[in-house]
Amino acid sequence: MSSERSAIILAAGLGTRMKSSKPKMLHEMLGRPLLGHVLQATRAIGPDQRIVVVGAAADQVTAFLDEAAPDAATVLQAEQLGTGHAVRTAVEAFPDLAGTVIVACGDTPLLRPDTLAELVEVHEKTRQAVTVLTAEVEDPSGFGRIVRDGEGNVLRNVEHRDADLAELAIREINSGTYAFDAEVLREQLFKLDTANDQGELYLTDVIELAREAGHPVGAVVVDDPTEVLGCNDRAQLAALRRILQRRINTELMKAGVTMEDPDTTWIDATAKVAPDVLVRPGVQLKGATAVDSGAEIGPDTTLTDTIVGAGAVVVRSHADQATIGENAHVGPFAHLRPASKLAEKAKVGAFVETKNAEIGPGAKANHLAYLGDAAVGADANIGCGVITANYDGVSKHRTEIGEGAFIGCDSVLVAPVAIGDGAYVAAGSTIVKDVDPGDLGVARARQASLEDWVAKKRPGTVSDKAARRAKGEAGVAEA
Ligand code: UD1
Ligand code: CA
Repeated sequence: MSSERSAIILAAGLGTRMKSSKPKMLHEMLGRPLLGHVLQATRAIGPDQRIVVVGAAADQVTAFLDEAAPDAATVLQAEQLGTGHAVRTAVEAFPDLAGTVIVACGDTPLLRPDTLAELVEVHEKTRQAVTVLTAEVEDPSGFGRIVRDGEGNVLRNVEHRDADLAELAIREINSGTYAFDAEVLREQLFKLDTANDQGELYLTDVIELAREAGHPVGAVVVDDPTEVLGCNDRAQLAALRRILQRRINTELMKAGVTMEDPDTTWIDATAKVAPDVLVRPGVQLKGATAVDSGAEIGPDTTLTDTIVGAGAVVVRSHADQATIGENAHVGPFAHLRPASKLAEKAKVGAFVETKNAEIGPGAKANHLAYLGDAAVGADANIGCGVITANYDGVSKHRTEIGEGAFIGCDSVLVAPVAIGDGAYVAAGSTIVKDVDPGDLGVARARQASLEDWVAKKRPGTVSDKAARRAKGEAGVAEA
């Protein structure tokens, strides 16, 4: 027997009940579209070949595959004439398939890699021609039922709509995932007919056909029936997402992550969280986000494709494609936009926005600032209200702030401009020229006082009375 393995993933259906212009398979669920989760699971069997059957919205599905699974081949099933027809289309396009062929559906994203691996192992060890993955469920409605004989041998699958009353009572259902012997599959696929309620070619009929042709068939029953749940509408999508959320969170907690409120913690399957990270309520970690040990995230924080170093603290903040260094402190209410790089012990505080900005080790921007297209040196201090004016309406320009520089509050640094190491900028300055190391840049009008202006121009007002009292004038009533 050939030791080859391949996987055929059925993804030609549109999923009408999603009521979407996007095919069902491409709806996102914790870091990957549904199809992406299935593709990920099929990696576990180390397939020599992965073939995805596309049909409805084939261009969108193919575009996703080109990016996410460039090794996977696609086969077009122009008309959706049933699951048997879909597999036949793939087998016709790849006539040399040998060994074990896994068939899985693109809309069962909760299938675990380990379960697929077990299915293949049992299938190959027992030398069965067909091994179907099944589950015992409370509510089997809609699913195909697995009919067994008195000794428990698998006889066939019957679809819900074709089942009689006795068959409808069966609670062991067909997951839609199978391992086939390539030769038997090829041989039986072409015997399928459309004698069923939907007038389609049912892949499920291969079970009975193979058995009748004298080949051994069997089943593997999953331990966790949620693995076989499919997604047909957006309510089910939310339900599946909730199940995956719990699975991911439970695994992370078992691996040493503390979660104060797992129910409001949404960590993508693609994100990484190290042991001894503390995750507070209301946190989303998306995409390729990775959080190192000892960091504290949240509450109410969304990090997308963001790297967080050990011991960093991120409170009530939003970051996208940012790097947060070891022991850095972010938030509350910070917004780190793409290419923000905070070095170790940097601090970015309340209502500070950064974009394409490197904030050096120990540098601080504690309140109300915008740092865009900027480099901030180690231990520099960015005062409250400082803005890098990086955009002239046409192009973006850079601001360089040296090590140990001190930028006074409410200053505007009009880029391109450089503030040297250890230089100061006086509060309220609009800086348009470089400030050399160690200099003080001041760019504001000198202050003048018009003596007794209030007494002359605003006599009798509360201000006037207060001023008179301050000057010790007798007979001015208390306010
Ligand atoms: C199928 C099984 C059923 C099983 C259930 C598990 C058949 C006849 N029935 O039913 O026993 O309990 O899955 O979820 O196989 N597809 C194509 N081309 C087609 C038809 C379908 O690619 O022509 C794809 C769909 O996109 C989907 C998968 O095959 O990913 C399953 O098709 P679907 O129509 O959802 O089958 P079910 O009725 O759910
Ligand atoms: Ca289905």
